Amino acid sequence: MTVTSTSPGAVDPLLPERYQGRWREPFEEPIYARLERGVSVLDIGSGRHPAVPLERRPEDVEYVGLDLSRDELAAAGPAAYTEAVAADATILQPALVDRFDLVVSWQVLEHVRDLRQTVDNIRTYLRPGGTFVALFSGTWSAFGVVNKVLPHSVGKRIVEPIMNRKERNTPVFPAYYDKCYASALEDIFVPWNESTIHPLYVGATYFSFARPLMRAYLAYENTIASRGVANLATHYLVTAKR
Ligand SMILES: C[S@@+](CC[C@H](N)C(=O)[O-])C[C@H]1O[C@@H](n2cnc3c(N)ncnc32)[C@H](O)[C@@H]1O
Repeated sequence: MTVTSTSPGAVDPLLPERYQGRWREPFEEPIYARLERGVSVLDIGSGRHPAVPLERRPEDVEYVGLDLSRDELAAAGPAAYTEAVAADATILQPALVDRFDLVVSWQVLEHVRDLRQTVDNIRTYLRPGGTFVALFSGTWSAFGVVNKVLPHSVGKRIVEPIMNRKERNTPVFPAYYDKCYASALEDIFVPWNESTIHPLYVGATYFSFARPLMRAYLAYENTIASRGVANLATHYLVTAKR
């Protein structure tokens, strides 16, 4: 399972300043800066919600969605993708090699069994100079740890009501959190020309069902955030250039 924070920017007096602001903005900024007529985009784990909705794409943008689930791709609607590839991101797809200016991925990399292989594949899908932008959950976040302890079937039953999954109407997918922490990511991105791994500390909304628990969790999270303990971050925003 994975848990997608629904509203780090929500106004709640308990939440510190780093929770303010729009959740997707730092992810979208480097994407829209590069999104112009004629570019080729690959969305990894795009499922039913492509990271760039159809109405925000300039003309002649090629937009390929890759997802493990054919059903999730189909749920995006018939016009969502120029091409839909139902495949595991960990398995190299020769037909995608050297084809893209931009690869994007929102809340997916925690779901792959082998992160290094997946990121290596993504690098080969980019043209030289192309950019990869991804946001995903951290291995050592509270929900990442719970996920490792509980079987998926049990975690799913707990997460669905807590997270009020109606918001984006998505099911809970199995997650492995393989190497989703700062020092492992730094190593994985060594072959890239440039990479920025930005840790985020925004996991408290998962505890909004129990205020005392949320307070206790925030005391912990404020400490790791102020000390910059990047390996314990709840999420990572990665921007990398081939
Ligand atoms: C939390 S959803 C995110 C979907 C979409 N990016 C969004 O913003 O709503 C995770 C997606 O990753 C897909 N997925 C899980 N494991 C995958 C894998 N190994 N390869 C490709 N896609 C995968 C799931 O089918 C699902 O569509």
